[in-house]
Amino acid sequence: MPYVLALDQGTTSSRAIIFDLEGRPLGLAQQEFAQHFPEPGWVEHDPMEIWHTQLQVARKAIARAGVEPGEIQALGITNQRETTLIWERTTGKPVHRAIVWQDRRTARACERLKEEGHEALFRQKTGLVLDPYFSGTKVSWLLENLPGLKERAIKGELCFGTVDSWLIYNLTGGQVHATDASNASRTLLMNLQTLSWDEELLRILGVPKALLPEIRPSAGLFGRTLPELLGAAIPITGVAGDQQAALFGQACFSPGMAKNTYGTGCFLLMNTGKAPVASKNGLLTTLAWQLEGEAPEYALEGSVFVAGAAVQWLRDGLGIIQSSSEVEALARRVESTEGVYFVPAFVGLGAPYWDAYARGTIIGLTRGSTAAHLARAALEAIAYQSREVLEAMEADAGLQLSELRVDGGASANELLMQFQADLLAAPKVIETTVLGAAYLAAVGAGLLSKAEISRRWAAGGRFTPQMPEAQRERLYRGWKRAVERARGWAEA
Ligand code: G3P
Repeated sequence: MPYVLALDQGTTSSRAIIFDLEGRPLGLAQQEFAQHFPEPGWVEHDPMEIWHTQLQVARKAIARAGVEPGEIQALGITNQRETTLIWERTTGKPVHRAIVWQDRRTARACERLKEEGHEALFRQKTGLVLDPYFSGTKVSWLLENLPGLKERAIKGELCFGTVDSWLIYNLTGGQVHATDASNASRTLLMNLQTLSWDEELLRILGVPKALLPEIRPSAGLFGRTLPELLGAAIPITGVAGDQQAALFGQACFSPGMAKNTYGTGCFLLMNTGKAPVASKNGLLTTLAWQLEGEAPEYALEGSVFVAGAAVQWLRDGLGIIQSSSEVEALARRVESTEGVYFVPAFVGLGAPYWDAYARGTIIGLTRGSTAAHLARAALEAIAYQSREVLEAMEADAGLQLSELRVDGGASANELLMQFQADLLAAPKVIETTVLGAAYLAAVGAGLLSKAEISRRWAAGGRFTPQMPEAQRERLYRGWKRAVERARGWAEA
């Protein structure tokens, strides 16, 4: 029986799951790691902690599944995207902490690029907007701020990578410096049409080519793991950014099919087929995946920076819940927020606003407001933000979604899912997904086809809208007013 090992290196934890080819999970392990906030708006991770937690959970998952490492025929990697690392090519030593996708330190640099008139060029070539979210300006920041780094990069002594590259490099004992096209499409450095690094963009951002990994298809052989790490030389055959992997795991293979992942942030992706579709409504155009020997497929994406992270803030910042799972019970103590809105723009606002200077805002408080109102407002904010993105997506694609497939931690929250269905007036379907990385790896190893994956997809539950339209629209108008209060706050 062949097995697949999927690694999911996320923003707050490293996870590993062993699957069989039916997509059944046989062993799972997960470990959280430290978040560093050295200055307001900055977010960093320790690269060695990312690697060590990922290796440990992989070993644990194998042990828990009770499989022999030699029986694992494919390894898939999926990861938090855009997070930026630079390390020494020969020693593997990181030169700095990883700069996380949420980090806003390059907001001014992005503004300068806009003032210099580069925005349209980046939009057209990469499908992205000039926002600190993406890797490009983070790489420039490291090269400009660490003494001697630029010279070493030019000489080829250093490697840049997103988290997938970092894991591939370590899993192969430094043999392979590569990334997949879906991760590369989030760097501001890759041309979305040619799927290669773009010399003109590299020049503008001052990034030497010698620093960059090789771009490969998302399914295909990347290399093999060092036998001493996991007990066998396992082929790495699938790599994709976590949101693209989720789209794959949800079997959204035809144009118009969409999923929303409720994680740290919320990421709504719609498959748009074999040609990139430019957005007129503040969405990103991104690579969905490229399977070896096939034409690349593209997606429209709406990225919401803070979703589940707002619940974590209720836990860690305010201490009104002990664990994230308590939020639903607390929110259910009240029937509504009674006019309280919580815009969790802790790191600015992503789609469709792209406002790096927006900040978190709670508005509508009265003497009767309680922790329960705030908990409910945090959950509702997740749904409001998803609706904004979905509206933009329907406008761009010129169609109305009949169904949205959902996954991610917060999709287990029934209050949120019902409110989401109410707010969108479209049915939701629930299913979980790390599976995408496992499926990609299985495709890359020739063990499964897309048609077989579609057959395996099954809805885990369904929510249908119940709220009267007038109420839905009244609530949504309130949200829009609250967002206006949050916008541009940190600019002054
Ligand atoms: O673009 C950032 C995204 O990939 C992070 O995903 O699941 O770690 O919040 P997650």
